[in-house]
Order: sequence, then C-alpha cells, then structure tokens
Amino acid sequence: MTDQAPKSDWRMGGITVPEVEDYIYAMLPPRDEVLAEIELEASKNDVPIVGPAVGRVLYQLAMISGAKRIFEMGSAIGYSTIWWARAVGEGGRVIYTDGDRKNADKARRYFDRAGVSQRITVRVGDALEFLSEEKEPYDIIFNDIDKVDYPRGFRVALPRLKSGGLFIADNVLWSGKVSRPNPDPQTKAILEFNKLIYESKDLFTTILPIRDGVSVCVKK
Ligand SMILES: C[S@@+](CC[C@H](N)C(=O)[O-])C[C@H]1O[C@@H](n2cnc3c(N)ncnc32)[C@H](O)[C@@H]1O
Repeated sequence: MTDQAPKSDWRMGGITVPEVEDYIYAMLPPRDEVLAEIELEASKNDVPIVGPAVGRVLYQLAMISGAKRIFEMGSAIGYSTIWWARAVGEGGRVIYTDGDRKNADKARRYFDRAGVSQRITVRVGDALEFLSEEKEPYDIIFNDIDKVDYPRGFRVALPRLKSGGLFIADNVLWSGKVSRPNPDPQTKAILEFNKLIYESKDLFTTILPIRDGVSVCVKK
C-alpha cells in the first residue's frame, strides 16, 4: 500500500482507475516550495494547471530532446512554465503566454522566486497571434489554451516547429468525454484536434493517458 496522495482539483480524473491514479500521485517526489505553493493556489482557486505528474512528463520530454527554445500557449500562473524553464537550463528560453494580465503578474512573482525569470519571456495576449508572428522555429510548442481553439493551435504551431521538434498538448482525453456520445463544443474541438495530429503526414503522434491525456507529436 502507498500513502494516499491528497486530492487536488487539478488532478481531473476519468481516465485511469482512481486507485491507479492515487498510486501514481502518491509516488511522486515532493516538489520545491514554489511549485508546491502554486499547486496549492491552483487547487484553492480552481486554476487548471497540469499538476506534478504531467509537469514531470514535460520536463522529461524537454530533457530527452535537449530542447532549448520552448513556446507555451496558455500558461496561467506559470506552473508548467517553471517545469519547462528548469528543463531548458541556462541559456534556454521559454515563451510564457496568457490572455489574463493578473495571471501574468502572479506568474512573474513565481518565476523570480523559482530563480528562472532570466529564461522566460512573458507575453500577455493571444498566444495564437504571438506564435503566428514567430520566425525562428521552436524545439517544443506546448498547447494548453482554450480547448475550442485546439485545431487552430495545431495549424499555427506546425510550421513553427523545427524538424524533430515536439508538439505537445494537454487535456486531449478531456475527462474521458472524447469517448462519449453527444460531444459539447469543447469536446468536438478536441476530437477534431486528435484526428488532425494522428492523420498529419508531418507528425508522428501518441497520446499518453496520464491525468487528462497528453498528446506528444514529433515533427518529421
Ligand atoms: C489550462 S490553463 C494553462 C495552465 C498552464 N499551462 C499550467 O499547466 O500551469 C489555460 C490558460 O490559457 C489561457 N488562454 C486560453 N486561451 C488563450 C489564448 N488564445 N491565448 C492566450 N492565453 C489563453 C487562459 O487564460 C488560462 O490561463
């Protein structure tokens, strides 16, 4: 038996068996003070962050691929951004984007405390617009914006990813709603997105059924 991991809102559920999910979360090593505080804040105030199990996946994918330039679409209060910023190391760069200035202000304070501000560019506004203006290709593009915009996210991101780069998205199983009848508009958009990434001749795609589902696509 493992200890029960405390339940947090960002854990979602609906994908793996609850006991297995508990087991996974109970095994995770503790986070540093800043990440732990963001997890608490997210849980209290319903901020939808990826949480530590997925944070580790992001970190690991950046490490394995040696990513140095990462563009994040939808960063909220900076939780996933900190995982990325730590993974790229010194000399790496992560673009934080969010439409909400208050989120960005909070995120900046967390970045300072985490000691990663130097590696992060904070941009407030529409992530899709910012990304569409980018000229230099990215090593990783992470999609975590409003779900109805996921198909647009795919179209904007693909040309801005280097060959061998990763296009990663969160929530692609959407609490299991992708497998149920009568999808709502958000679920419809995710269904369309998942079809696009699997059918794209430019990508090699898998979906990891961790937390709310994470898609990982390698650009050929
Ligand atoms: C799921 S949260 C991001 C969580 C973050 N990736 C994390 O795990 O810590 C989604 C965020 O994206 C922002 N957002 C949604 N659509 C956006 C868009 N088109 N451009 C910029 N920000 C957007 C929202 O304000 C919200 O804070």
